[in-house]
Amino acid sequence: MRPSSILLALSAAVGAIAHQVEVPAEVPRNIEDFKAKHPTSDPRNAARGLSSRSGPLRTRWTMPTTAALYLPKDSLYMIGKPLDLTFLDDVQIHWDGEVKFTNDTPYWQEHAFAHPFQNSLMFWKWGGRDVKIYGDGVLNGNGQRWWNEFAGLEILDPTNTYLRPILFYGENLTNFEMEGIHEKDSPCWTNFIVTSKNVAFRDVMCTAESNNATALPKNSDFFDSLNIEDLTVERVWVNVGDDCFSPKSNATNVHVDTMYCNGTHGQSMGSLGQYAGEMSFVQDVVIENVWLLNGQHGARLKTWAGPDIGYGFIDNVTFRNFWQANNEYSAFIDSCYFNINSSTCADYPSKMNITNILFENFTGYTSGKYGTAVAKLTCSTNPDAVCENIEFRNFTVKSPCATDAEGEDAKPIIICDGIKGGIGMDCIPAASDEAKAALKKKCSVPLAEIDPPF
Ligand SMILES: *[C@@H]1O[C@H](CO)[C@@H](O)[C@H](O)[C@H]1NC(C)=O
Ligand SMILES: *[C@@H]1O[C@H](CO)[C@@H](O)[C@H](O)[C@H]1NC(C)=O
Ligand SMILES: *[C@@H]1O[C@H](CO)[C@@H](O)[C@H](O)[C@H]1NC(C)=O
Ligand SMILES: *[C@@H]1O[C@H](CO)[C@@H](O)[C@H](O)[C@H]1NC(C)=O
Ligand SMILES: *[C@@H]1O[C@H](CO)[C@@H](O)[C@H](O)[C@H]1NC(C)=O
Ligand SMILES: *[C@@H]1O[C@H](CO)[C@@H](O)[C@H](O)[C@H]1NC(C)=O
Ligand SMILES: *[C@@H]1O[C@H](CO)[C@@H](O)[C@H](O)[C@H]1NC(C)=O
Ligand SMILES: *[C@@H]1O[C@H](CO)[C@@H](O)[C@H](O)[C@H]1NC(C)=O
Ligand SMILES: *[C@@H]1O[C@H](CO)[C@@H](O)[C@H](O)[C@H]1NC(C)=O
Repeated sequence: MRPSSILLALSAAVGAIAHQVEVPAEVPRNIEDFKAKHPTSDPRNAARGLSSRSGPLRTRWTMPTTAALYLPKDSLYMIGKPLDLTFLDDVQIHWDGEVKFTNDTPYWQEHAFAHPFQNSLMFWKWGGRDVKIYGDGVLNGNGQRWWNEFAGLEILDPTNTYLRPILFYGENLTNFEMEGIHEKDSPCWTNFIVTSKNVAFRDVMCTAESNNATALPKNSDFFDSLNIEDLTVERVWVNVGDDCFSPKSNATNVHVDTMYCNGTHGQSMGSLGQYAGEMSFVQDVVIENVWLLNGQHGARLKTWAGPDIGYGFIDNVTFRNFWQANNEYSAFIDSCYFNINSSTCADYPSKMNITNILFENFTGYTSGKYGTAVAKLTCSTNPDAVCENIEFRNFTVKSPCATDAEGEDAKPIIICDGIKGGIGMDCIPAASDEAKAALKKKCSVPLAEIDPPF
């Protein structure tokens, strides 16, 4: 195998960084390489499912509750009407073809299913027991027209009326697996799983790529959830413009292992605590072996502040083995979400407890947007919201601005406020002169690309 390295045409001033980062050869370079490295892995199960069941359901989308369905390679299934599949019981879908939604944006805004959380729309709904989707197929949200027409708008803007559907929505799923599928060009979030238990995504690819430079994909998170228990995400390739992974209210026992995230907003817990008076929590989460390139943040916890918010907690979350290149903050606790200024945040601080959070073995480098500050942990100033046992272990993320033009060394800093006890490393308050000076030492790096690009 050819040697792998990051190609960074860095200026002389930051040249040292370019040689400090290496992506191991086993990390895939693109989607084809990802597929080759992580082939869909369950042919035995597939064969058993198909041989024991009867067959030619492929031209109809009205499924019996118990079924095996085959979508052959090179077949295209266009869906132009909302579809309710919430009655499933022991259904296996061998999905090698393509399922694509029409892009009749006015029709879908009028007729799609709706979920009250953040004003979501859905093309279809899946629910039931023992449902497995697997194969080399494509689930295509046909998002381009949606992104073009949405350009300039904000999903969380209270006056936004341009609502876009989620590509895959599940509710009341028990024992669900998606394996090998390419989820492509979702108009909005890619997966949204609600009130479900024992859910797994394996060897899935998720991309949202626009051909229009003034209308980039927005809010195309790979994964969101409400009320989920026992969730596994393994070996997933994501190239979208929003969160790579972001369980929202009420997630318990979550394990993410091996994710590649390019151009995303990071691995995010939440946002949480958005709705007035509502309790929400995320607990018992391990996210490990993650490669994050060219995105916004790395590992992030985001909780709402403001006059009408909820309350709850984030407890026992481990982010481990994170390699990052060209992201803003490599670790970020944001207790002033969403879009509020510091005085409003101080007047109405978040009511979420944040406890037992570990950031371990973080390597790589930031984008330089925040100068030599490589992480920022801002806990709530609310005396009733505890923020404790936040720990950094083996954290060596560098800033590309750490060596200034004069060749002077400026070590990366971590900003922290409101944490009870230390974090196991030096960290300084945002209001300190040292933090202010660090934030001013901005610099930039080119896109992190992997060599060879294939
Ligand atoms: C949830 O799914 C189970 C079967 O797994 C079903 O018995 C139950 O009625 C469903 N609940 C709702 C609220 O749909
Ligand atoms: C690209 O997006 C812009 C909105 O920013 C839209 O006005 C324009 O029509 C789109 N271009 C094409 C070729 O669809
Ligand atoms: C990674 O993301 C950047 C920024 O969005 C994009 O320009 C680049 O093409 C992406 N690379 C891959 C391999 O998808
Ligand atoms: C989360 O759990 C709490 C406590 O059980 C409950 O009050 C709240 O409604 C749940 N949130 C959602 C979004 O279901
Ligand atoms: C923290 O969460 C992990 C992952 O679910 C779990 O294995 C571990 O037992 C939890 N630790 C505590 C103290 O509950
Ligand atoms: C937050 O922590 C405090 C102190 O341990 C506790 O009294 C309170 O119940 C916690 N709040 C939630 C929502 O768990
Ligand atoms: C630290 O993380 C990197 C990848 O980000 C991994 O290659 C390395 O094995 C990890 N170290 C340990 C001791 O697990
Ligand atoms: C902060 O936002 C609030 C609410 O939008 C506004 O009333 C206030 O003037 C803002 N304060 C500053 C310092 O910008
Ligand atoms: C942390 O660093 C120590 C000392 O360099 C090393 O022995 C250990 O394997 C590292 N652990 C992790 C999880 O990176």
